[in-house]
Amino acid sequence: AMRTELNRLIAQVKDENERELFRNEMGNFFLLFTRWLGERSKGTKINWDKVNSPPEDQVVPYDSIPKVESSPHMNKLAVLKLNGGLGTTMGCVGPKSAIEVRDGMISVSYLNKAKNVNVPFILMNSFNTDDETKRIVQKYATHNIEILTFNQSRYPRINKDSLLPTPRNPNGDIADWYPPGHGDLFDSLNNSGLLDQLIADGKEYLFVSNVDNLGATVDESILNHMVESGAEFLMEVTDKTRADIKGGTLIDYEGQIRLLEIAQVPAEHVEDFKSIKKFKIFNTNNLWVNLKAIKRVVEARELSLEVIVNNKTTESGEKVIQLETAVGAGIKHFHNAHGVNVPRSRFLPVKSTSDLFLVTSDLYSLNHGELSINPKRMFNTVPLVKLGDHFKKVNNFLARFNNPPHILELDHLTVTGDVSFGSDVVLKGTVIIVANAGSHIDIPSGSILENKVVSGNLHI
Ligand code: UTP
Repeated sequence: AMRTELNRLIAQVKDENERELFRNEMGNFFLLFTRWLGERSKGTKINWDKVNSPPEDQVVPYDSIPKVESSPHMNKLAVLKLNGGLGTTMGCVGPKSAIEVRDGMISVSYLNKAKNVNVPFILMNSFNTDDETKRIVQKYATHNIEILTFNQSRYPRINKDSLLPTPRNPNGDIADWYPPGHGDLFDSLNNSGLLDQLIADGKEYLFVSNVDNLGATVDESILNHMVESGAEFLMEVTDKTRADIKGGTLIDYEGQIRLLEIAQVPAEHVEDFKSIKKFKIFNTNNLWVNLKAIKRVVEARELSLEVIVNNKTTESGEKVIQLETAVGAGIKHFHNAHGVNVPRSRFLPVKSTSDLFLVTSDLYSLNHGELSINPKRMFNTVPLVKLGDHFKKVNNFLARFNNPPHILELDHLTVTGDVSFGSDVVLKGTVIIVANAGSHIDIPSGSILENKVVSGNLHI
């Protein structure tokens, strides 16, 4: 039935070239769908008894890697940002914020100039992010950088009960389609022709990261380690804290190194999975992959990334599923693959406006697109910031601050309700600001709030 419905969609595409591309894409979708059906009937979940922590030599401490100023392999490197996600958490369609795309571009362009190398900057977009991203790229384009973009696949959502595709025609409502997770990278990079182009240009290594990870800069020592260890795949992992319980982790499964995501864990073992004792590290999604090895794996049709089912309810109340995959799951297909346990500073995700608040504040300074923590910060920790619903969308967030407050001595900030900040506000210690329903709080320019609770309709 699924096959018939897909054929019906394909037949509606008039242009012959477009139809072939679309047929190929629906073919890949159908493979994923049948693989999921097969796994579902067998029971998809992993056998928990076979899940072991990875052996020590499979996770190399960053400190044990020889540090170099410059790697002789830089001209064989390309940088790729995963930029196909919806960013729904911050109320955007498209990249969550221009700064994510911009800073990555600036830092690679600076690197090219400073080191006299030619590292291309690649963005994997999706039909959701392509237009907006191209606008940002144009705005910030500089010399010293080759920017390449390609689009990942567009798969049809599936009705949960009928297991049929929800779209009625190939170019109808955009909400009937989805980008199938970053695991799509391998196929789309190959299908776009870019994989061949990079290899023909003499590129051998690809540094992949989430576009929203502002800590994911090119580390030449890791690149050198990749070349010298002969690894086809490196995953940067970092020590887990209680706040990171959801991230995927590396495991040993029947003697093979694998990524384990929470979605694969049987319900009765979820608490085990979250424990920071048994699984000490998590995947930052900073990955280093050998390009020729990608070609080999894709051509041999070996890729079988674990299917992640994403349940959604549409605006009209229809229950649908999206079948997705994660790029890190590819690790099992590559030779000499292993983890590198990196400092936390290489994982600085901007997933919410609270994260955006931190990275745009005086807590960090931006140097050629690279963020570093202000040396004037006395404590080793980052403040805990909770901005309420009035700050949830990027536009609202921006409108509520005249400029970013000074937070070098802040430990904890909670803001709820209709609150606005004037210029040069200083926040220290623990600050809680609560505007009750129907009231509004204006924090005047130049205020210094230290260990203070502000509530109600107060003007201070
Ligand atoms: P996330 O899984 O954090 O999600 O993506 P998201 O879709 O961006 O954001 P929310 O949950 O809707 O707020 C991690 C990285 O993978 C990319 C994202 O752009 C982000 O950089 N990604 C995600 C893709 O490139 N393609 C996808 O299909 C999904």
